[in-house]
Amino acid sequence: MHTILSEEYLNEYYTDGYINTDIRLTDHLVQEMRLHYNSLEEMRNDYPQYFTKNEHQAYLGGKLTGILYNFIPGYAAKKLKKMYSDAYCKAVHAEQIFIEKIFEQLLEKNFHKFFKTKYIVASYDIYLNNDYKHLSFTDIHSDIPNFHHFYETENDLTIYLPLVDLTEENGGRLSILPEAKSNLKIPGNVLLKLYEEAFLGNKNNLDENGYIVPEKINENDYKAFTKNKTYWELLENYNINTELVAKYYMNDFVKHDWKAGNIVLFNNKTFHAAETWRNQQYNREIYMIRLLPIYDAKVRLKGIIHGKPFNRFLIDTEKGEFLRFDEPVDFSRIPEEDKLKLSGCYQPSVAARANV
Ligand SMILES: [Fe+2]
Repeated sequence: MHTILSEEYLNEYYTDGYINTDIRLTDHLVQEMRLHYNSLEEMRNDYPQYFTKNEHQAYLGGKLTGILYNFIPGYAAKKLKKMYSDAYCKAVHAEQIFIEKIFEQLLEKNFHKFFKTKYIVASYDIYLNNDYKHLSFTDIHSDIPNFHHFYETENDLTIYLPLVDLTEENGGRLSILPEAKSNLKIPGNVLLKLYEEAFLGNKNNLDENGYIVPEKINENDYKAFTKNKTYWELLENYNINTELVAKYYMNDFVKHDWKAGNIVLFNNKTFHAAETWRNQQYNREIYMIRLLPIYDAKVRLKGIIHGKPFNRFLIDTEKGEFLRFDEPVDFSRIPEEDKLKLSGCYQPSVAARANV
């Protein structure tokens, strides 16, 4: 994170687990967002879309779900659907109509000062709504990367924007385990290295600049990848770390009150959980934008998630500019010196590359 956040704010992130930017969106925009999302179909829940042919995520739902998924996919899919509709009244992914408006206000208030890295991708957004009967995600977890996003790192940052007040009285606050309290964190960048190792050796997977194009990888190669030993070790590592945190660090999570419209930055790859919503008069409403730092991995961003274009916005943190593209942000056009190093010493062997 020290290469991504400005030094001035690094300590706050490290100690508290998040950065309170002290930037607040206008009430007008917050209300406009609420009106829009409340007008969308009731009970819409986009989460189960992540589980189509996604052994990876199913495994993370617990070993039993993973086994079920492999042997009785229809039953497991139903189970997962129920799990998410029990958690939220509404979960809308990649709507993206407010991202530009939000950044207009953010950059005007110098939001780019929080970053050291020159570029950051505003990947997609998420809206979550739950009443006191829907518990949201109260279990501790870390949001691990999956094939739908394909490109995620251990240092992704999330703009966390409550659309209603999150307080002791209302509940619904975010609990975070700060890195200062525990170094247990999922080594998400390993996955990008594994992608390079598995897919870079096959020319059919590459674009004209030598970048892996996720959409070009065929089904069989994906399947072979999900059986890869290191990949499974990474998933196992996730489970072990989650168990360790649940056992030894539950008292180290921090929770804070945040007002509606208050912009917070947090890393969804650290361990976190949502507090139960207690207010019976109205629902908890949360909005998030996933921000991706750019690494020198030869991996191209995916262009479609849940049938919608995404990964099309780039923030120039030096100039404080919001750039919009018709295609996913093209990493081959970003100068190498403006990218973060995935690893200083990583050299996948030719043999390993060929061995998909
Ligand atoms: Fe999460």
